[in-house]
Amino acid sequence: MHHWRIDDARQTLVLAATGERLPQVVYWGPALPAQENLATLHATHAIDVTGGMLDANPDLSLCPEATRSFPGQPGLIVRDGEGTPLLPKFCYDSESNGNDLRLIYRDAANGLTLTFIFALDPDTHIITAQTVLDADAPVHLHWLAAPVLPAPQHSGEMIDFSGRWCGEFQTNRTAWSAGMRYRENRTGRTGHEHFPGLIIPCTGATNTQGEAYGFHYGWSGGHRMIAEELQDGRRQIQWGHAARMETEAATQFKTAPLYITYSPSGLNGCATAFQRHLRDRIITWPKPDAPRPVHYNCWEAIYFDHNVPALKDIATRAADLGAERFVLDDGWFGQRDDDTRSLSDWTVDPRKYPDGLHPLIDHVHGLGMTFGIWFEPEMINPDSDIHRAHPDWALGGEDQTLGRQQKALNMALPAVRDFLYDRMSAILREHPIDYIKWDHNRVLPMPDAAQTRGSYALIDRLRADFPQVEIESCASGGGRVDFGILQRTQRVWLSDSNDALERLRIQHNAALFLPLSVTGSHVGPRYCHTSGRMHDITFRAWVAAQRHMGFEMDPRELTDKEATVLRHVTAWWKANRDWMQRADILRLDSADPAVIAEQQLAADGARFVVFAGKADTSAQIAPRPLRLTALDPNAQYLISLANQQDIHHLSRGTPALKSGPVTLTGRYLMANGITLPWSFPDRMWVLEGKKL
Ligand code: DGJ
Repeated sequence: MHHWRIDDARQTLVLAATGERLPQVVYWGPALPAQENLATLHATHAIDVTGGMLDANPDLSLCPEATRSFPGQPGLIVRDGEGTPLLPKFCYDSESNGNDLRLIYRDAANGLTLTFIFALDPDTHIITAQTVLDADAPVHLHWLAAPVLPAPQHSGEMIDFSGRWCGEFQTNRTAWSAGMRYRENRTGRTGHEHFPGLIIPCTGATNTQGEAYGFHYGWSGGHRMIAEELQDGRRQIQWGHAARMETEAATQFKTAPLYITYSPSGLNGCATAFQRHLRDRIITWPKPDAPRPVHYNCWEAIYFDHNVPALKDIATRAADLGAERFVLDDGWFGQRDDDTRSLSDWTVDPRKYPDGLHPLIDHVHGLGMTFGIWFEPEMINPDSDIHRAHPDWALGGEDQTLGRQQKALNMALPAVRDFLYDRMSAILREHPIDYIKWDHNRVLPMPDAAQTRGSYALIDRLRADFPQVEIESCASGGGRVDFGILQRTQRVWLSDSNDALERLRIQHNAALFLPLSVTGSHVGPRYCHTSGRMHDITFRAWVAAQRHMGFEMDPRELTDKEATVLRHVTAWWKANRDWMQRADILRLDSADPAVIAEQQLAADGARFVVFAGKADTSAQIAPRPLRLTALDPNAQYLISLANQQDIHHLSRGTPALKSGPVTLTGRYLMANGITLPWSFPDRMWVLEGKKL
């Protein structure tokens, strides 16, 4: 019998193996006392056998084996170099327990070795788990699961994520039943449709209470998730690259890191573990302590119609609103007058920039802003000089269906990566640029893991040579959001929807994984270009102020009143960003389904801000109290309404908050909640709290 335990202050994961067999997770949940007898726990974990069953139940191991009569999906499907299916059966080989726990198992008959790696971060409560397959001779991989985990029994449903362009991070709740929920993303990028995350709430869990388990697969090339309930009632969770993404036989394959956590404090316990781990462990910040700068992005102001005097005027106005970084979007290179041409012709367009980019950059710098620029490196238009010169650099067949009139480049080719490095580094060397918006606007013609590895290699090379340049991951908005890309980038363009109402919901759900510091959010045009709706400037401004704030409208359209609101909210954001970019985003359990609310709690618990977005009209006529969370029950908090000036005259009553700050205990605020003034839909209340 072998046993291993992985512990932090809030969770324990116990692995146990019978004899030489692969280990299985026999416990994962609240931290167990040190004296727990793991052998007894393992023996007790075994489920009974009755008629119609095998004489013993096959283990739900870290890599369930078909050869051991496991009745569900196996963790490994592999063929030898000639294509003959292998039926692996692994036995204990060795282990090591240094910075991480490594368990090594060997299938001598087939010449295969499996290594399971677990690393626990006791501060963030994230366990990182990975599986590596080594083969003595090249093999073809069909499927390799990251360490396979059991799902809790006391859970009625799972929550996963789908979406679309301008509608990212939609949650799906699926009831557990016999059989499996199988999600496979074969698009070759993380995708709007398939954010690789899963939350399993235990019965009764909400945002703020109960138990939940969180999973995220950190890979940008498309994944497979299996959540399967076996006939005997056991449940397994498998994650890996989408099947058959490895097109060549090889002697080593690795899964991406799988990030998992157990939460005793509802969905928020998972959310804050992921937020902190991403911000503090995964992202590499060029200037870790610098405040996140307010962005201005020109895309929705000018699209492809670049002209230096207009851009200078826009930049001047953006700086006046409070912007600190100016990002020049698509349209500056080749002959890019629309989206049908020039991708991969990465030289400045002399028709639009007769004196190059320097005059604009100098102007931007003169306003005290830094300068960022857009690229879409992995892509090529058939109508481009590079495609005419190197048609063989494109990925996929001649007769493929284009996406936004473009093809992907074959990033597995060193020549393609060298070409992109040369063009991009030439722009970065010649200009003082501190930011790249890195776009990826189409799915691949077929999934191919080598493509993702090629993208990663290019980013890694550029980052090594330009360590001060930050990168934003964009793919038609939130089509490439995952911890694999965020190991190499510092921001995500969460959605192309600048519609504040849509954004409120998208941000709320994305906060299950993403902290403020990486989540871009811009104030869009008055008349939203992607939804056709109009929203009041206060709502647009406060929704952007919930995350890494920026502007994307044409500032020439702003009325004086709108500009005043933007200056005010931006100043508020700058005054608070220091602590907000280190805060936890906690989703609140709103008693009113029309209200989407969150509480950003400072790392030291000394202050918080609540954003309560009214996403609809309410069924009842007056607002219901909003319960806060994670406060010190015995402490007093001074609570005030930050946007008092947004109270409408139709709000005629006298809730105390309307006339000034109130002091209440954490207990009251969490048990009863705080009653906000009445408001129209599509409005935000912003509540500030300070611990006294
Ligand atoms: C899609 C992005 O999501 C937009 O923000 C913008 O950069 C366009 N591409 C430019 O083509």
